Amino acid sequence: MNNSPWVTASRVALARIPTPVETCKYQWGSHRLLIKRDDLTDCPMSGNKIRKLEYLVGDALAHDCDTLITCGGVQSNHARATAIVARRMGLDCVLVLSGDAPAEFDGNLLLSKLSGADVRIYPDAGSDQRAERMHRIADELRDQDRRPYIITSGGSDEVGVLGYVKGAGEIADDLSQSAQRVSTILAAVGSGGTYAGLLLGAKLFGLEAAIVGASVDSTPDFWHPRLRDYIDRSIERWRLDVRVSDDDIVLIPAAGRGYALSTDAEIEFIAKFAGTTGIYLDPVYTGKTLYAFDQAVNDGRVKLDGDVLFVHTGGIFGLFPQRERFNQYINQT
Ligand SMILES: Cc1ncc(COP(=O)(O)O)c(C=O)c1O
Repeated sequence: MNNSPWVTASRVALARIPTPVETCKYQWGSHRLLIKRDDLTDCPMSGNKIRKLEYLVGDALAHDCDTLITCGGVQSNHARATAIVARRMGLDCVLVLSGDAPAEFDGNLLLSKLSGADVRIYPDAGSDQRAERMHRIADELRDQDRRPYIITSGGSDEVGVLGYVKGAGEIADDLSQSAQRVSTILAAVGSGGTYAGLLLGAKLFGLEAAIVGASVDSTPDFWHPRLRDYIDRSIERWRLDVRVSDDDIVLIPAAGRGYALSTDAEIEFIAKFAGTTGIYLDPVYTGKTLYAFDQAVNDGRVKLDGDVLFVHTGGIFGLFPQRERFNQYINQT
């Protein structure tokens, strides 16, 4: 059995870690909000994805691959981080993005284009279609004697999960050096890798806090069995010496109007949070997560018995394509 999966997994050091933990002005009664600043893991490559990419790119290099292929929506943080990591590592990159091709490049898409990645945008399509396209592109590249490496949506597979298993170890170190009693660790659930890694790492490193995931896309009922399966596959793959029960997987709804669609209340929350703390949440993941959690605490659905550590998983570039909504808010206040 294994307590240190990264001993056997290949990893390249990419992220500027350990990231700081900051105590925030925001508070629920006597319970404080601490923020693990994973929005500071880099500048252009920033956010949670770079932690997963350390292992995914490590695996790609161990297999002597020369091209990364991944997928996402047109404003995918994961696709942007992958494109830039590829450039930094001297690899080629193909992005399979779904959505409407915009008249102008902006936000994450602009950064991905500037990295020189081969960006292919398709009208909105489901995840099966995106996977099929990635495999077709990989076959074409192999025919040209290239060595592609496919990274699943959001980097959430048994290799990518290690980024946040290790991240949870970092949090255990952070908390051991402070007198703060953290009873909740909160993170967004988009493709599941961050949450699964945090929960596995919490078990491995003896963190006592509940790991709460905010389902920003789909419902908790959709995610629970998928996370269960993902966690079990990861335990098996790395022979982890941990037990995770169904009750350990704690999820709150946070999708609001739906994936990447913001309510006025979410926009206002993000703007006010920036205005009081100087910390910027993004409209698709972190803003929805903290807004939904705040609502759940305030209306009693979530009970706190200690401080909350929110893992700020980044996404700042997603603010810019939403400039109209934020301008509206600014002009109304
Ligand atoms: C900024 C940001 N936060 C959180 C998430 C969710 O992480 P995960 O996909 O690992 O569930 C993502 C990606 O989906 C993201 O881009």
